Amino acid sequence: MRDFKHFILWHLELAQAETQTSAVERACLARHAANRKHLVEIGVWHGVTTCRLRRAMKSDGILWAVDPYRAGRLGFSIPQKIAHREVAKVPNGKVAWQRLTGVQAAAEFARCEDKADFIFIDGDHSYEGIKADWEAWKYLIARDGIIALHDSCSSAGRQIDEAGSAIFTRTVILNDADFELVEQVDTLTIVRRK
Ligand SMILES: C[S@@+](CC[C@H](N)C(=O)[O-])C[C@H]1O[C@@H](n2cnc3c(N)ncnc32)[C@H](O)[C@@H]1O
Repeated sequence: MRDFKHFILWHLELAQAETQTSAVERACLARHAANRKHLVEIGVWHGVTTCRLRRAMKSDGILWAVDPYRAGRLGFSIPQKIAHREVAKVPNGKVAWQRLTGVQAAAEFARCEDKADFIFIDGDHSYEGIKADWEAWKYLIARDGIIALHDSCSSAGRQIDEAGSAIFTRTVILNDADFELVEQVDTLTIVRRK
């Protein structure tokens, strides 16, 4: 019901698309996405971060926007409708919508010629969910490419040490010999493929 109310308000331009990212996290994502050509976002929701990535990437770049957008009670996905309209407003590069889970999209992406140079993982934040996305995507990132992970560490304002995504990041990703830590901004972790 809350989603439907927000959808009506958004439609009337009385509410904005929503995101759980902070302003500094979005600025950090944009900085690392700048001039990248093969970008992937896993977990789009209303497309707020997708818009930032699209604005920052190269003008001849392509951004895979991945989200299963399961249909709600009305038979369609409200977040998908909002995201498509919001992301279409940004006149830069191309967006390839993938109505798939992160793991399903990785199987499709693996058939492409190019590797990704930027991946933002913000889909299923359970331990099993991020594990599946990490294992599916870590070999699809080019050398020097960036993987950004949301809700992957605690910040001054949010204690999420016990979240599955934070545990997996701390115990597995930050110990992966193929990657190095670049920075952590609020609950966002940035790693680079060596
Ligand atoms: C936290 S929101 C993403 C927010 C967006 N990145 C932003 O910051 O504005 C999480 C999204 O992940 C999607 N999702 C859930 N499970 C997923 C999966 N296995 N693969 C990809 N996306 C998934 C949900 O449908 C939801 O839209």
